[in-house]
Amino acid sequence: MSKEKIEFLYLSEPDMIEAGVLDMKECINVMEEVFTLMSDNDYLMGGPKGSSHGMKLWYPKEKRGRNMPVAGDDRRAMTMIAYVGGEYDVCGNKWYGSNVANRERGLPRSIHSITLNDPETGAPLAMCSGNLVSAMRTGAVPGLATRYLKSDSASVVGIIGAGVINRAALIAICESLGNVELVKIYNRTASKAEALCRELSEETGIRMTAVSSAEEAIRESDVISVATSGGTPVIIEDGWIKKGALINLVGTASLSEDMYINSRVVVDNWNMHLDWIDDGMRHPDGIESLMASAPAAPLMKLYLEKKKDNADIVSLGDIITRRAAGRQRSEETIIFIAGGIPAEDVAWAHTVYGRALEKGIGQKLLLWEKPHWA
Ligand SMILES: NC(=O)c1ccc[n+]([C@@H]2O[C@H](COP(=O)([O-])OP(=O)(O)OC[C@H]3O[C@@H](n4cnc5c(N)ncnc54)[C@H](O)[C@@H]3O)[C@@H](O)[C@H]2O)c1
Repeated sequence: MSKEKIEFLYLSEPDMIEAGVLDMKECINVMEEVFTLMSDNDYLMGGPKGSSHGMKLWYPKEKRGRNMPVAGDDRRAMTMIAYVGGEYDVCGNKWYGSNVANRERGLPRSIHSITLNDPETGAPLAMCSGNLVSAMRTGAVPGLATRYLKSDSASVVGIIGAGVINRAALIAICESLGNVELVKIYNRTASKAEALCRELSEETGIRMTAVSSAEEAIRESDVISVATSGGTPVIIEDGWIKKGALINLVGTASLSEDMYINSRVVVDNWNMHLDWIDDGMRHPDGIESLMASAPAAPLMKLYLEKKKDNADIVSLGDIITRRAAGRQRSEETIIFIAGGIPAEDVAWAHTVYGRALEKGIGQKLLLWEKPHWA
């Protein structure tokens, strides 16, 4: 092959499934490597500080232009870029659009595509369907947090929001707990919670029940996962939370200030959230602009008000590499917040791409035989 010729692999969603994108055990292990690389500083994300969550199109509140979308619940277009080091040594971009109204069209809330590139030349290696990569890595992260932060006797799981993300999170949490006695699922539309219970209890053999309130899902639960969509975060009262619970937030939730102050707070990557604060501060609505979409926004507010400081917030990678302590007491309540990291998408997409290459899955596409202008 000539040195100038560039081909890349195109992987559709069925190709990604055939190549193993739904392998949750492996995905949690890959996330563990990514969090180790982050703690070792062998990764890079966008922006001058190398820690940006991503760049977002903030649709305007008022109609503007001929066809420009207007702001709405979970409505955004976003690009999330990263370099991942270690064995991965690859760059990539997850580019997606999100709109809650998609569900009425029979589409997922968000639609993702991922490109992987050679970090040396920039040449594309693969372009793939990103929905399952994104859902799996998002679910795997609370699974990983559960591996490191659960209390020893944890066996009851409470789920709030029965969408795509919590489906993956539930699979991952069950994988990490190993001895789940009961899963309680609450969703605003009850039929969705019932359907998820039916499907996953059949798949896993674990007892799952749909409940009629967030309170029921949370009381007596040892591990909780919140992933709802829409503009109004679910309210969680202090009195519902069992001592020693691990509360995983991958979506927004409304917890009391006392709960944040009195609990151990672990995040996916605090540097990224600090960068996110800068984004919020540059927005005309200030930090409030992040409340509907960034799961760590209430924590960011407490940080800006100096009620929580850097020393009170631990990044999960530092617990994995033992630079920071994990759970210290069985009675300790831990809030784990995952804002979502582009390095996770790149590492999981790259792993699945590697499997596709081994198995001959996907379609090779030509970028050029020879660049027209070089
Ligand atoms: N942190 C990350 O890395 C990350 C990544 C992807 C998505 N997310 C977030 O996860 C959330 C869920 O995403 P999804 O794709 O599963 O969305 P989805 O729309 O598929 O599912 C969300 C579910 O929550 C339910 N719901 C909404 N409000 C509720 C409430 N108050 N109480 C109970 N149920 C409620 C909806 O009926 C729906 O079934 C979104 O907020 C999204 O932004 C986070």
